[in-house]
Amino acid sequence: MIYFDNAATSFPKPDIVYDSIMEAMKKYGANPGRSGHRMALEVGRRIFETREIAAELFNIEDPMNLIFTFNCTESLNMGIKGILEEGDHVITTSMEHNSVLRPIKVLEKLGIEVTIVNGDPMGRIDPAHIENSIKRNTKLIVTTHISNLTGTIIPIKSIGEIAREKGIYYLVDGAQSAGVYDIDIQNLGIDMLAFPGHKGLLGPQGTGGLYIGEDVDLKEIGQGGTGSTSHLLEQPDIRPDRYESGTLNGPGIIGLGAGIKYILKKGMDNIRKHEEELTEHFIEGLAKLDKVSLYGPLDTKYQAAVVSINVGDLDSSELSYILDQKYGIEVRPGLHCAPLAHKTIGTFERGTVRFSFGPFNTHEEVELSIVAIREISKEV
Ligand code: ALA
Repeated sequence: MIYFDNAATSFPKPDIVYDSIMEAMKKYGANPGRSGHRMALEVGRRIFETREIAAELFNIEDPMNLIFTFNCTESLNMGIKGILEEGDHVITTSMEHNSVLRPIKVLEKLGIEVTIVNGDPMGRIDPAHIENSIKRNTKLIVTTHISNLTGTIIPIKSIGEIAREKGIYYLVDGAQSAGVYDIDIQNLGIDMLAFPGHKGLLGPQGTGGLYIGEDVDLKEIGQGGTGSTSHLLEQPDIRPDRYESGTLNGPGIIGLGAGIKYILKKGMDNIRKHEEELTEHFIEGLAKLDKVSLYGPLDTKYQAAVVSINVGDLDSSELSYILDQKYGIEVRPGLHCAPLAHKTIGTFERGTVRFSFGPFNTHEEVELSIVAIREISKEV
């Protein structure tokens, strides 16, 4: 089996991730931050270790500003719905995933103004278009860092500068970049960063996070038990408790910490370089095939390890089915929960087949997939 669906969930994980989850469940599978017994304290301490190491990765000064969630979608919902109020204006782009577009659509019905800046056919976003869309009531800009359809790298530094200069909050969706691309929230002028644990950070599903800048007064969108100020019926306003109601995913977060440790040890630059080389190999191999359409910038300076393709007139689901059944190659077809991105690049009707590479993929696997696509393209 060749797994090329790392943009959905990375697989496999480093062994230390599996081991640390197992250890957490077997040795200290208690409730963190509630009881004072030693198991509760141990799991709480280990969760804090992940908070610290994730803060280090993103250059977050105070780990208490990093909130754990169950996935990037939850983080984005929190960041978007906790900031915008009736009469506010939000700017986003056509390259977003539905985890950005759907919460915004709900808010639009509640009286929030929305501008969606269009990407070009390669999925690129021009920061000037964002700047030109700013109005007097613009409160938030939300963009992805990397398109989950074309891998296009969005110029978040330039957008962050615009947001900072105009005093507008900037929320970045790091779903496809966290753990592979450098995200220094201080250097990039990011007010909020949403990220999943189960993709580039190599943690398990059911983990994610949201960095909330010190001066961002974000309303919490859920309330409940936090293990703190239990005598009050109101949600505490201390961080991270305000945003982390209910029992945390202890084993998952500990596994996420192990994933980040692995990345820091291996070197994020080395991981990215490996993924860039695989992407270049794949693009070069397919560019020679007549019936293959490739989307995105097709240059790893502007494109991450996410490559969307089509072959002849084949429906994307059919192509992915053949790849799976005949060749054991696992990819994701269809619209990738990014309908506007597909409209932007002109593939809304048929979708694309997306290949996404991870740290454990090899050049041999890429070569085998090029051979498979060549064979398929000869038959259509
Ligand atoms: N957001 C994930 C993807 O793009 C699931 O496949």
